[in-house]
Amino acid sequence: TGKKAFIAGVADDQGFGWAIAKALAEAGAEISLGVWVPALNIFETSFRRGKFDESRKLSNGGMLDFAHIYPMDAVFDTPEDVPEEVRTNKRYAGAGAFTVSEIAERVKADVGNIDIVVHSLANGPEVTKPLLETSRKGYLAAMSASSYSFVSMMQRFGPIMNPGGAAISLTYIASEDVIPGYGGGMSSAKAALESDTKVLAYEAGRKYQVRVNTISAGPLGSRAAKAIGFIDDMIRYSYANAPVQKELAAQEVGNVAAFLVSPLASAITGHCCYVDNGLNIMGLAM
Ligand code: NAI
Repeated sequence: TGKKAFIAGVADDQGFGWAIAKALAEAGAEISLGVWVPALNIFETSFRRGKFDESRKLSNGGMLDFAHIYPMDAVFDTPEDVPEEVRTNKRYAGAGAFTVSEIAERVKADVGNIDIVVHSLANGPEVTKPLLETSRKGYLAAMSASSYSFVSMMQRFGPIMNPGGAAISLTYIASEDVIPGYGGGMSSAKAALESDTKVLAYEAGRKYQVRVNTISAGPLGSRAAKAIGFIDDMIRYSYANAPVQKELAAQEVGNVAAFLVSPLASAITGHCCYVDNGLNIMGLAM
């Protein structure tokens, strides 16, 4: 209650970011969002037109609301990093400030210090290509959007986090086990994200007295997952082979995220927490 959160990576009501927002709102937090620039317009329009109203409903009868909604592109740290063709792109030209450092400054000015940072974003332009066919450019783009973006956020948001605060990200088991179809360097990006979770937990723990954890989530038919193409197969596979035979609800991940960033988890940091109906423990599934 009374905590302030910044969530990067919400652009509709279908993904993990939205579910985390909802769980944090249920716990009484004030939430601001960073929405990917190309998705911002449609998100705000849909929000205004009531498209999300059903999923905005909270258990106390209130509605999920956002204190601030910022345009954000997590592959750029400062305005100097933005190439000409992006700056002049019609979706970006009117967006104002959208780089990680600028958003951290705007959050500081608008809401002051924050307690919770959520990274729920990933992008791999060549995700449908096997690693053996992935270009250097595609691989580095996946790392930039999906891994370094979290490092950048901790660099810029760490200084405006209250001691006792916490950050969380979302990862996937393709970092450690082979998941054919999760290509383009996305498996590599998740491996980096998980390793960085530990190093950042140490560094930001010492420097800012904040905790850093990641959730390894089971398959969810979000917008990003549908773009990969085999999500329905993954959901079926999980249903058939996981110890807990049910479809994963985004809210189950949202609830664990709310726990991990809360004082209930005050001694948990650098941890990768599986929220996947237990699929990760299976060797041979029958
Ligand atoms: P989603 O589509 O709801 O969320 C991904 C978000 O990233 C989108 O809102 C998109 O606009 C944003 N984004 C992409 N590039 C960006 C950039 N450069 N700057 C700022 N925002 C950017 O999909 P989902 O699945 O909820 O993804 C959230 C996280 O969960 C990701 O890290 C994903 O890898 C992870 N995850 C998803 C699983 C799934 O089956 N859906 C399983 C395990 C992890």
